[in-house]
Amino acid sequence: MRVRISQLRDRKQRGEKFAMLTAYDATIARLLERAGVDVLLVGDSVATAVLGYDTTLPVTLDVMIHHAAAVVRGTERALVIADMPFLTYQITPAEAVRNAGRLLKDAGAAAVKIEGGRSVTDVVRRLVDVGIPVMGHLGVLPQSVNQQSGYRQRGGEAREAELILNDALALQEAGVFALVLEAIPAELAVTITGAVDVPTIGIGAGPGCDGQVLVSSDLLGLHDRIPPFAKRYVNLSDMIVTAAREFVEDVRSTASSRARTD
Ligand code: KIV
Repeated sequence: MRVRISQLRDRKQRGEKFAMLTAYDATIARLLERAGVDVLLVGDSVATAVLGYDTTLPVTLDVMIHHAAAVVRGTERALVIADMPFLTYQITPAEAVRNAGRLLKDAGAAAVKIEGGRSVTDVVRRLVDVGIPVMGHLGVLPQSVNQQSGYRQRGGEAREAELILNDALALQEAGVFALVLEAIPAELAVTITGAVDVPTIGIGAGPGCDGQVLVSSDLLGLHDRIPPFAKRYVNLSDMIVTAAREFVEDVRSTASSRARTD
């Protein structure tokens, strides 16, 4: 039985923190689930974490469906949420419903995540109306990297902090079941967490949120550079390079020993 969306709100009420990690394929998703991760986000960070792009903008709906379906196949218990990629929900609410519907119908995700505040509340309402649960995302919005001029922290100034708090309240009112808060000051995250009934999930937003999320390739040490707020729990890069180098050496030494006996 998979973790249900309503359980996240129950946990907030009980003051129990929960962990979310990104996953992009069945193998890693299975291992993360085995470790006790309750919520897996098939982030559009697949673009930068896995597919070699510089930003999340190039990811298509078909790519997200492909990865989300793999994560669903690899897991039994985790709640699987899929990101809606850039321009799949911003044009019209009707298009958003069609595209979000594919993430549920074709990939088997339980919910979708979209970025933005008051500019997306119409879309949130429409999706929720037709039975598609929506997670919101405020603070740094990677799909708006060009407008936000990079990934620097948001909400450091009083006016911007107030806008983000109002966005959080508007998204709650529109029907989101949870909110990701990315790269905002810890005090602002605490204020938002106290102001909304839905769970907040922080990334670079301090320890005061109801849950925490990390990009799994940062946690696993698969890249040389990680955001300053991320924690590398293991360095798999070095382990992979060492294993592959040993294999190359084994093959080469076998080839040369065969060459000697031929
Ligand atoms: O795409 C993603 O990985 C995300 C997380 C940073 C929350 O949206």
